[in-house]
This record gives sequence, structure tokens and C-alpha cells, in this order.
Amino acid sequence: MSQRIAVIPGDGIGNEVIPESIRALEAAARRFDLQLDFRHFDFASCDYYLNHGRMLPEDWKEQLGGFDALLFGAVGMPEKVPDHISLWGSLLQFRRHFDQYINLRPCKLMPGIRSPLAGREPGDIDFYVVRENTEGEYSSVGGKMFEGTEREVVIQDTVMTRIGIDRVLKYAFELASRRPRRKLTSATKSNGISITMPYWDERVQEMSEHYPNIDVDKFHIDILTANFVLHPDWFDVVVASNLFGDILSDLGPACTGTIGVAPSANINPEHRFPSLFEPVHGSAPDIYGRNIANPIGQIWCGAMMLEHLGHEKAGQAMLDGIEAVLAAGSDQAPLTPDLGGQGTTSELGEAIADAIRDG
Ligand code: NAI
Ligand code: MG
Repeated sequence: MSQRIAVIPGDGIGNEVIPESIRALEAAARRFDLQLDFRHFDFASCDYYLNHGRMLPEDWKEQLGGFDALLFGAVGMPEKVPDHISLWGSLLQFRRHFDQYINLRPCKLMPGIRSPLAGREPGDIDFYVVRENTEGEYSSVGGKMFEGTEREVVIQDTVMTRIGIDRVLKYAFELASRRPRRKLTSATKSNGISITMPYWDERVQEMSEHYPNIDVDKFHIDILTANFVLHPDWFDVVVASNLFGDILSDLGPACTGTIGVAPSANINPEHRFPSLFEPVHGSAPDIYGRNIANPIGQIWCGAMMLEHLGHEKAGQAMLDGIEAVLAAGSDQAPLTPDLGGQGTTSELGEAIADAIRDG
């Protein structure tokens, strides 16, 4: 049975790295005999906005809702359209409407990439950040009072629900159970935030009773950020609320080198709606059009997508292909300039697709 993938390149280098991701996915599909059916969409881009006055067509929910997954590039061209319009009008609509309540980011130091953390080798850093993606600190509950006076007050509430917390914890515990270290770290701040964070801790405690094989620890978010930098080898699966997860999921990939290789997934684990796979980087207007963008983040997104669609082996083969080419180094492989090489986007994409094909 074929699986249907909606391809949305968006803006800037999204248009350059998406074709490389598809090339790699097609190599994996041939090797593992998968049927992937790609369909391209030009909306969720600033050019679409300039032509139509909106980022998405009116019926986007119907157009995209039936797909098995969304492979997304990047959105935003601040010189053409302000970011709050382009991002809120597209990506954030997808995440919310398709109830992608898990934001998943692997933080893995790849061979051949120098970590900004001194002395770290591949193998030292290999963990996931699991961020709650729909509630928590990012609620729109609150308001402003006595505006313009000395007594001005602003309030914004945190909303945590039992269902909302339990579903992200369950996902994180399940992920930890599938990994060899079986370790889960929870980000908290119950010493300072005295109602919601103790509740989060309570839910972690209760969930952990269903997973006796998982080694669970927790850190306050302040020391946790320090430990990401000082002891990244301590972590395996790190689960956090929306705000804490937002911070950790930028810090984690930053510890593993160039932004060009980092992928992320916005997941609806029940497959009620399509999940969305996008690199961490944006549209990079400063390098767009020169064929030097690193396609690895977008290719790795393809690997995460295959895993989500039930093709673990094919996803792993894509990751192995990326690692093999990176390990070859810039003498042997056409690495892009951000990796210290002189290769182009398409040459690097082709080398990775070949590595995936040849296993
Ligand atoms: P950016 O991630 O696009 O670029 C930051 C820096 O990293 C630039 O110097 C760029 O050249 C470099 N870079 C990024 N990706 C690269 C790659 N694959 N290979 C080599 N170098 C790479 O972030 P920036 O410049 O802050 O944002 C540009 C636009 O992208 C804005 O409109 C922003 O809102 C949007 N954006 C969109 C995101 C998304 O679609 N999820 C995420 C981040 C930014
Ligand atoms: Mg962020």
C-alpha cells in the first residue's frame, strides 16, 4: 500500500534542500521496496502570500488532512512578508489543527562534526528532547489591566491538563523503552513555580510506575541547561513542558554543531492527523540561490518520517547513509561549506542517496 506524502518546500533554501530529501527517500524506498507517493504544494510560502493575500488556501485542511505525513522545508522571507504573518499563517496552523502535540528533536553528535563543547566525540551526545507542543506556558489566557497607568498589570496563565501532560509523558516513556539506555529525564521548576510544576512532577511520578524498567530523574530547568553543556552524556530522553522544551530543543542541537544538520518532527502519535517533519533551520535568505545549503537536516527529517510511518529499517538506513558520508570527511565527500567542505547542496544530496542505495 502506498503512503502519501505532502511536500511543502516553503521559502528560500527549503526549495533547495527538499529535492535532496526526496532523492534520499526515493533511494531508501527502492532499497526497502516502499511505495511513497509525493505530492507538491506551493502554498505556505511568501510568494503564495504575495499572489493570494494569504499563506494558505481556504480549504488547506481538506487538501492536507488525508496525507500520511507532511514534509516541510522552511517558511519566512522577512524582506517580503513579516515573520509573524508567514509563520503564524502556515506552520503554526498545521501544528495546532493537526494536533501535533509532540515536538521531537534528536540531539546527536555526528561523525566529522566538531561539537562546540570541547572534547566531545560522536557517541558522547545522543539524546532526544520531547517537548509538549500544544499547551502549558504558551496559552492565550490572560490580559492587561490598568493599561497606561502606573498600576498597569499583565497576566498570562499556564494551562496544564492531565490529558495534555499524560500524553506527552507516555510518548517519552515509550521512546525511552525502545532505547538501550532506558533513561528518562524530566525538566521541572517546582521549587519556583509552585502549582503547575509540582503537578507536572506528580504526573511523571505516576507515569513512571507503569514503566518500572525506566530509570527516571528530574532536574530544575536552570541546572538542566547547565548540564546539557557540561554533561550531555547524561541524557537519553528528556521530556519537558512547552516553554522548557522550546529552550532545550534549541540548546540540544546547538551542542551538536551546525544548524544545517538538525531535524525535528511535530507528531500526532495516534496518526489521526498527518505529522509534520521539518529541519530546525529556517529559509536562510543569506545563502539562498547559491546551491550551498546543507541538505542533511532535511534528509534526516525524511528518516524520521519513515520511522514514524512504520519503516524503522529504512529510516535507520537513511541515517546510516548520512553518517557514512559525514565520516568520509571533506577530502572524500562533497561536504557543504558549513561543514568545512566545498561541495554543493546537490552533490552532497547525491552522495548521501548513493550511500543509502548501496547500504
Ligand atoms: P536560519 O536558520 O534561516 O539561518 C540562520 C543562519 O544559519 C544563517 O546564517 C544561514 O545561512 C545558516 N543556515 C541555516 N540553514 C542552513 C543550512 N541548511 N546550511 C547551511 N547554513 C544554514 O534563521 P534566520 O536567518 O533567523 O531566519 C530566516 C527566516 O527563516 C526567517 O523568516 C525566520 O522566521 C525563518 N525561520 C523559519 C523556521 C521554520 O520554518 N520552522 C525556523 C527558523 C527560522
Ligand atoms: Mg525555539
